[in-house]
Amino acid sequence: MCGIFARVAAEPVADTLIEGLKRLEYRGYDSAGIATLEQGGIARICTVGKVEALEAAVRSGPPKGSIGIGHTRWATHGAPSERNAHPHIAPGVAVVHNGIIENHRELRQGLSDLGATFRSETDSEVIPWMISHHMASGAKTMDALRKAGEDMKGAFAVAALTESEPDTLHALRRGSPLAVGFGDKGAALASDPNALAGFAREAFMLEDGDSAELSRSGVDIRNAQGEKVHRQIVTIDDTALTTGSDGYAHHMLKEIHEQPQVIQRILSTYGSTGSILGRLTFDFRRVTRITLIACGTSYLAASLARRWFQEIAGIAAEVAIASEFRYEPLAPVQPGEIAIVISQSGETADTVGAMHRLKERGIPVLGLVNQAGSTIAREADCHIPLLAGPEIGVASTKAFVAQLTVLARIVLAAAQRRGHSGVSILHSALVRVPDSVSAVLHNEPAVMDVAQRVLQARSALFVGRGHLYPVALEGALKMKETSYIHAEGFAAGELKHGPIALVDSTTPIFALASSGPLFEKCASNIREIAARGGRIVLVGDRAALLALSDVATHALTVPHCPDFVQPIISTIPLQLLAYHVAVQRGLDVDRPRNLAKSVTVE
Ligand code: G6P
Repeated sequence: MCGIFARVAAEPVADTLIEGLKRLEYRGYDSAGIATLEQGGIARICTVGKVEALEAAVRSGPPKGSIGIGHTRWATHGAPSERNAHPHIAPGVAVVHNGIIENHRELRQGLSDLGATFRSETDSEVIPWMISHHMASGAKTMDALRKAGEDMKGAFAVAALTESEPDTLHALRRGSPLAVGFGDKGAALASDPNALAGFAREAFMLEDGDSAELSRSGVDIRNAQGEKVHRQIVTIDDTALTTGSDGYAHHMLKEIHEQPQVIQRILSTYGSTGSILGRLTFDFRRVTRITLIACGTSYLAASLARRWFQEIAGIAAEVAIASEFRYEPLAPVQPGEIAIVISQSGETADTVGAMHRLKERGIPVLGLVNQAGSTIAREADCHIPLLAGPEIGVASTKAFVAQLTVLARIVLAAAQRRGHSGVSILHSALVRVPDSVSAVLHNEPAVMDVAQRVLQARSALFVGRGHLYPVALEGALKMKETSYIHAEGFAAGELKHGPIALVDSTTPIFALASSGPLFEKCASNIREIAARGGRIVLVGDRAALLALSDVATHALTVPHCPDFVQPIISTIPLQLLAYHVAVQRGLDVDRPRNLAKSVTVE
């Protein structure tokens, strides 16, 4: 979603603004722009489409200013266009904004009455006009920005540049992430701390209500009361945003192939039950109910974990989509309730909102987050890092598998704490997962072959039962995100209640079935599809393949493993499938249309 990058230095900043924006491209956007101060006046360059287009425009008449703000915009109010792109300008002021100003209509009306002339359809354009208006009444930039913040409803991160204070960048945060860094070459701020690599070694994460002033000599961070504060320092991880895809054709492919190491890292770090339990602010022996909350792919990890908690740890668990949970009427809180919020970015607006609601209700919240220093990592009562490393591909792969692995470890720790037997057998199964995942990755040519055969499909179905049902949903989500093929996931047993009407010879049906307690049930459902002419691609172990060889048109084999870990392993061929279908269709697999990596608006 929108990305902010701004810099004040002793040298021209235009090139580094472009570099910073490129590092934020993974968030998803459809236009980009920068504004710099040129001989005391604001100069703005904006383009529609990729940052490369902006870079070309900048190169054709390079700005010389040593202070500037940059932005990648993911359209919310108004189509992607040069006029709607940020920075937005009012007399003497340029602003970039991430978030949504919910009361922008009334603010716009009030400002128009005062003589403001708006040129875009965005909510954001009210901000420079509010700042300009307050400055015309004598306020300095920071006070004007804070006053504007008081008038705005919604979530935002804002960076402002003014002609009257040509050596200082001003920023304000409420709800949307903003990291501030300072190094030998001046100061910089960005929506993602890792985008500051090369400009600073460490970043301060602004908290809600904070403002910051950045100059060539330092940064000054204040809380909502205007008091000087020190904020959490995050070490910048420059391994991914700056180094590219390491010889892989795309970040998504690199991230799929990193999964054995990611799982290994998690199992080594959280190898002992104590390493999990020591991070918690609650005792699993007293937990009576768990609510798991997330969005998108993270929600599907939560859905699988719900089953694990019930089955393995004997704890009642439910799962909720964050955007629904936020506004749902809720039953009174019961003693022993806890919640687990799961997020790769730690900044998803709905998940953050759900966490705030849980905390208001007095429910202890455990956050599982990949991005260090993010809002959920900081504000959850306790936090277990996902350790996936930076994920750049918009479609989540290694973060999903990291979520499943961390959740599996937590479930086993909970079961052990509650005195359940059989935990060590399950733990041994988990320890073997990296090898099984590597084995699936070696089978990539077979996936490419299947991808080639389903390329032209207009829609695809994914079915599974039990533990494999959330995997079927994730397989369908991955397919639609990357390849734009209409794909749906169903519980195999539910097919005959409606979706089976969709079965025909042109629709590939990816059936997840491996030997295990529900295999026979699932096999019957697969035969029902075959009897109606469905093209079945079986994703399962050898025993499943043998049993269903008469009905499967194609197969993607996965190693046989205990039911508990089968979902992690069965996810891998579906990720590769979505990747190869998208690439063979000629699509931008790392940056699919309309999608954003970090969804900071609700
Ligand atoms: C976006 C991303 C998805 C992700 C979802 C939740 O939609 O494109 O890949 O699963 O947000 O993000 P989170 O950072 O909270 O896991």
